[in-house]
Amino acid sequence: MGPTRREFLRIAGGALVVSGVASVGRRFEGLGSAEPAARFTQPEVLTSANGRLDVELVVAPAKVPFGPGTRFAYTYNGTTPGPTLRVRPGDVLSITLENRLGETTNLHTHGLHVSPSGVADNIFVSVPDHDRRTYTYEIPADHRSGTFWYHPHRHGTVARQVFGGLAGVIVVEDTIDAAPELVGATERLLVLSDPVIGSSSAVLDVSMMQEMQGREGDRVLVNGVAQPTISVQAGTLEHWRVLNASSSRYYRLALKGHSLHMIGTDSGRLATPVAVTDVLLAPGERVELLAAPSKAGSYALRSLPYDRGGMGMGSSSGSSRRTTLARVVVNGDAPAAGMPPSLAAPTSLALPDATSRRELVLAMGMGGSMGDGNSGTSNRAQGMGRTFTIDGESFDASRTDIVTALGRVEDWTLTNTSPMDHPFHLHVWPFQIVARSDGKAITPGWKDTVNVPAGGSVTVRIPLTEISGRTVYHCHILDHEDLGMMGIIDVR
Ligand code: C2O
Ligand code: CU
Ligand code: CU
Repeated sequence: MGPTRREFLRIAGGALVVSGVASVGRRFEGLGSAEPAARFTQPEVLTSANGRLDVELVVAPAKVPFGPGTRFAYTYNGTTPGPTLRVRPGDVLSITLENRLGETTNLHTHGLHVSPSGVADNIFVSVPDHDRRTYTYEIPADHRSGTFWYHPHRHGTVARQVFGGLAGVIVVEDTIDAAPELVGATERLLVLSDPVIGSSSAVLDVSMMQEMQGREGDRVLVNGVAQPTISVQAGTLEHWRVLNASSSRYYRLALKGHSLHMIGTDSGRLATPVAVTDVLLAPGERVELLAAPSKAGSYALRSLPYDRGGMGMGSSSGSSRRTTLARVVVNGDAPAAGMPPSLAAPTSLALPDATSRRELVLAMGMGGSMGDGNSGTSNRAQGMGRTFTIDGESFDASRTDIVTALGRVEDWTLTNTSPMDHPFHLHVWPFQIVARSDGKAITPGWKDTVNVPAGGSVTVRIPLTEISGRTVYHCHILDHEDLGMMGIIDVR
């Protein structure tokens, strides 16, 4: 039960290693230990004004602090996570990406309902090393409010670059944010990542087996910091926007001694707060939570064990271990603050009837042939006798898998025939979950990423409306995307 039982061991010299790895050292107890508790930090915030936000992001490797020391990372403007971009519906967001990474990169705005054409949310655009490119995003006037994010999306190196640290948050604010309970709340961003700690880019090199399992690092960080302490006031509301920016690790969030109130999912707000004891966050997913601390004390914000399956042969994942993410120190005693009675207008959550349906099968297959026009990484996977496919096909940038018409409302049944979970993500058009094979409760809310459990299926309803263009859907275990579990949709 002790929240720090499986936390980190400290060894002389200040280096930290994960418990479970044999090592000599004493247990790091967090508060009260000789090691000062790491400070909870927030990324720099850049806010739009007069309908525009113009941002320059320099992508480059750097040495960054993570609490007990410094480490090698890929950064936006020198930090990981990168700056938080705050915009409003109707704004124009312009991002000039300057590439100093030493390799090609590009930019994707995950979850934004914006055009995938031209130099907007177009993942087929690339920015070579030592080059720069200005992306322009026109955010529709009726865009939903919520927590979105940006990260690289160049097929073959997405997992490596995001794992290296390339991720930042985009907040879209609207009138829901003016609710008195939210205005009075303390808003915080919690970006979860799990890098390998090291001093060179060697931390980004993983084995083929790790790619197939989906790479996980050795430390879990919150906004780039190991086990920070969040100091809060009893009687106030805490408003947390949580992003799982890990390449592959799942988190099952729980706050000791408190229930959490979910007010938003990936792509929008719920109608009313929904109380939960824990919430599963697959890679790419976001959740907005409220907590109402009332009693003085120190409480662990933890990830509870979750089995995301695997490749077999004794492969295990960090997702299946209990991990302390942060300590929440509540100051004082006071009656719990009230929750906002309502959030999104129920009409904004209403779903039209489906006009068509299709089925997609996510599979890890055996066999596959070399040299059939796929990318090098897909061939590498096939060379190993394994393929990561959607509907039997490995990603091919020159093939369009789904051609459909603007205005359709499609039900997609996503079936996972493999022994591990796959978080399915669609660009540009948010959806809602309408059915699940595992019988788990469905919270009505807008999503852009949904976990499809091993051997299970999930049906989502997607209004393919307002924006046309050609873009992708894929597994958000980013190694799987790089290995070919991605397809192309063209909405005409
Ligand atoms: Cu978060 Cu296709 O990406
Ligand atoms: Cu995306
Ligand atoms: Cu996957």
